[in-house]
Amino acid sequence: MAASFATLHHVLFLVWFLPIAFSLSFFFFKAESISNVSCNEKDKQALLTLKRGLTDQEHVLSSWSDHKDCCIWDRVICDNKIGRVSELHLNNSMLGGEISGSLLQLEHLNYLDLSGNDFNCTPIPTFLGSMFSLTHLDLYGANFCGLIPHQLGNLSSLRYLSLRYNSNLYVDNLRWMSGLSAVQHLNLGYADLHREVDWLQIMSKFPSLSELYLYNCQLDSLNPSLGFVNFTSLRVLSLFGNHFNHEIPNWFSNLSTSLLELYLFNNSLKGNIPPSIFNLEKLEHLDLGINSLNGHIPSSIGNLSRIKTLFLDQNQLNGTIPKSLGLLSKLETLYVGENYLTGTVDEGHFRKLSKLKDLYMSEAPLFFNVKSNWVPPFQLYYAYMSSIKIGPTFPSWLQSQRSLSILEMSMSGISSKAPGWFWNWTSNITYINLSNNHIECDVSDIFLSSTVKVLNIANNSFYGPISTFLCQKKTRKNKLEVLDASNNLLSGELSHCWKYWQSLIHLNLGSNNLVSRIPYSMGALLNLQSLGLQNNSIYGDIPSSLKKCSNLRLIDMGDNHLSIIPLWIGELTNLLVLRLRSSEFKGNIPQQICQISSLIVIDLANNNLSGSIPNCLKNISAMALHDSNVISLYLDGHASYVESVQLVPKGREMEYKENLLLVRLIDLSSNNLSGSIPTEISDLSELRFLNLSRNHLMGKIPEKIGSMKELESVDLSRNHLSGEIPPSMSNLTFLSVLDLSYNNLSGRIPSSTQLQSFDALRYIGNPQLCGDPLPKSCTIEEQSLNKSPIGSVEDDFENSSFYIGMGVGFATGFWAICGALFFNRTWRHAYFRFADEIKDWIYVTTMIKMNLLEKLRVCLSK
Ligand SMILES: *[C@@H]1O[C@H](CO)[C@@H](O)[C@H](O)[C@H]1NC(C)=O
Ligand SMILES: *[C@@H]1O[C@H](CO)[C@@H](O)[C@H](O)[C@H]1NC(C)=O
Ligand SMILES: *[C@@H]1O[C@H](CO)[C@@H](O)[C@H](O)[C@H]1NC(C)=O
Ligand SMILES: *[C@@H]1O[C@H](CO)[C@@H](O)[C@H](O)[C@H]1NC(C)=O
Ligand SMILES: *[C@@H]1O[C@H](CO)[C@@H](O)[C@H](O)[C@H]1NC(C)=O
Ligand SMILES: *[C@@H]1O[C@H](CO)[C@@H](O)[C@H](O)[C@H]1NC(C)=O
Ligand SMILES: *[C@@H]1O[C@H](CO)[C@@H](O)[C@H](O)[C@H]1NC(C)=O
Repeated sequence: MAASFATLHHVLFLVWFLPIAFSLSFFFFKAESISNVSCNEKDKQALLTLKRGLTDQEHVLSSWSDHKDCCIWDRVICDNKIGRVSELHLNNSMLGGEISGSLLQLEHLNYLDLSGNDFNCTPIPTFLGSMFSLTHLDLYGANFCGLIPHQLGNLSSLRYLSLRYNSNLYVDNLRWMSGLSAVQHLNLGYADLHREVDWLQIMSKFPSLSELYLYNCQLDSLNPSLGFVNFTSLRVLSLFGNHFNHEIPNWFSNLSTSLLELYLFNNSLKGNIPPSIFNLEKLEHLDLGINSLNGHIPSSIGNLSRIKTLFLDQNQLNGTIPKSLGLLSKLETLYVGENYLTGTVDEGHFRKLSKLKDLYMSEAPLFFNVKSNWVPPFQLYYAYMSSIKIGPTFPSWLQSQRSLSILEMSMSGISSKAPGWFWNWTSNITYINLSNNHIECDVSDIFLSSTVKVLNIANNSFYGPISTFLCQKKTRKNKLEVLDASNNLLSGELSHCWKYWQSLIHLNLGSNNLVSRIPYSMGALLNLQSLGLQNNSIYGDIPSSLKKCSNLRLIDMGDNHLSIIPLWIGELTNLLVLRLRSSEFKGNIPQQICQISSLIVIDLANNNLSGSIPNCLKNISAMALHDSNVISLYLDGHASYVESVQLVPKGREMEYKENLLLVRLIDLSSNNLSGSIPTEISDLSELRFLNLSRNHLMGKIPEKIGSMKELESVDLSRNHLSGEIPPSMSNLTFLSVLDLSYNNLSGRIPSSTQLQSFDALRYIGNPQLCGDPLPKSCTIEEQSLNKSPIGSVEDDFENSSFYIGMGVGFATGFWAICGALFFNRTWRHAYFRFADEIKDWIYVTTMIKMNLLEKLRVCLSK
């Protein structure tokens, strides 16, 4: 792209220039030879050698040719006085290959930027440490690996050094750095520095250091015992994402009078916030979030008179928020949520906060108590105020917030009517979450602003016919992507107005009073990924138009009055979750269900399904294969909304949200199924919950059931199963729920600690079954029937405790890492915080995504 633009430019230049050039050529020739010093031949050859070593997929170096002056090559800048190359801007060019030592010939090179390339995890070339004229060296995100060469310490003129975001850099020590006596900007983000305990003393010796970035560097300590650290001219100190698990050291309070930015988030800092830290009165950005700080917020916070962004969220701070907060007249971003802060927040806390735009207060036992006629001094863009007490009356101060884009007021105790102005009071609103309140509102009074993308009013008291809302003329231009109105009092029919709602990605109307067929027009929702109609009075057939909704991941139509499972269901090949329980389905389970290889949940329980269980279930690779692509399907969903589903994994109903991704469940219980359990079912090695109870199944339990290693719960009770319990069953080391009662099983219960640990009730109703834990002991004949291979059982058991440990680790790991980082409603801010410069935005976005996928993989691959 860049190259072709340059070529075009060149052609235009010639067309314009040539006629004049001929007539004036003599004059120009003379002028040129005087003013334009051409490129030094040694520099040119050095660059050509460099080019030969590099791979250049994008042809960014195509202008580097022998017959042209190297000072007019792309990305090369010369010092015009002496005709020597002084700057190389080779950033973001997809370059790779080898960096030639010929660079050393460029004796006047002071600026070298190789950032944003891919050097394939090779080490940083040591000869860079001999390029003594360098003042600017940028190797950011260039995929260098290994030891950072000590030779770089010889660059005594270097003012700017950035090695951040390389995949695997480390140091053995940092003593060599003391040679960087001119350094002003130093960024080693993501390099592993944990081997150097004296990093702080070394860094504080640079007389001109202005910006120091050592984030995610595996540093262990801020050395709290030091009395004083003198960073004379430091303006930015960024140390987030390290392993500091001690108190904030006192030396912070006078480390530099010029400090503007301090980032310490995402460590494990403990103890109180030292009041003296707010003596850094020039601070504009302070981030102490995501730590374990406790105690009160000191009232000296009012001394941060220049502060613009202040993050104290996700700590264990308690006590009340000091009123002096209201003095911070420059404050734009305030994060205090996810703490144990108590007491009342009122007008005084915001007295001078006229610049506030971004407020995160969610999840703290705070009482937001302002007068009903309060007009705040600020205009918020983002208000995150979930799970703090705001009600019972609807917050009328919101009406003054004309710039508001995101409003989170879930679980805030609002139990009054939504005022008429609410639905149309700002032209910027994109996200409204008022779920889990007691808001009363006639849905026909909602005039949705066309900017709204997410409307979550679940679990309130919205009432009236849904069709008046859906069919209003005013809302026809809506861009709604998420509508969750579940758990309300909506009534009537589903209407035929779905063609106006084609942006919908998630739709949940569950647990209302809808009495309706599913209209054919719902097939217009081509972007739909989840459809929840559960727990209403939906009746009739599922219309075939829904097969056009091929993006569907989740269908929940449980607890209704439907008819048969359509054969075309097999065409919804992206479906992860199919929940049709308790909906009066009749007829057979169609074989076509096996075409949906991504299914992780099949819940058809408590219907009147008859016939046999399809013998093709092993085709569902999400349940049969360890490495299926389910994760990527799931992450494709909407960033700020997570659907939830009620399942019965172990005989008890549970709500699944993010963790739905981990479930592998088949529940066909309480139907009229006959025939035998297909032996192929044992190929579903990823299945965790299997319930086939209360049917008319006959024959034997599949011999190889023991190869379904992930099974945690198996309920086959109240069927007509006969024969022995397969010995392989004792290999199911995760099994915590088992019910085989009321069948016609016989012989000895295989012995393994696991199978004997269940209550005898789980085996009763099988008159010919014997052995522990049943009171009936086995006769000699019965014993000989069942020769269980005891040895192999013991071997497997050793592994089992290991696996169980991993399971627990996973649960905490998922919530702590993946859950918090990615699915958190503040994920927008995660990006913000991990980007130390705006231009990092895109890069970091991708990176966090990748990290999560990797982490999920680690978690999932036990
Ligand atoms: C900090 O260091 C600078 C220069 O190294 C020096 O001028 C200044 O006096 C020191 N400050 C203190 C408080 O020691
Ligand atoms: C730094 O501040 C502490 C108290 O906050 C004080 O005791 C110490 O003398 C100060 N040191 C210098 C060098 O200013
Ligand atoms: C600001 O700091 C001074 C001492 O440096 C202190 O006396 C004053 O109370 C502080 N202001 C607030 C609002 O805490
Ligand atoms: C509904 O909201 C209330 C708070 O108003 C909450 O206690 C309850 O758990 C919510 N119910 C559901 C099903 O989410
Ligand atoms: C199954 O069908 C029978 C007869 O049609 C009916 O009485 C029964 O309620 C149905 N059971 C379920 C769970 O739908
Ligand atoms: C149960 O299945 C049998 C045969 O499979 C069938 O004859 C019977 O009608 C079914 N019962 C119901 C209520 O569907
Ligand atoms: C129970 O199983 C035995 C064989 O183990 C068989 O002879 C008998 O008919 C079965 N009883 C029923 C009611 O299915």
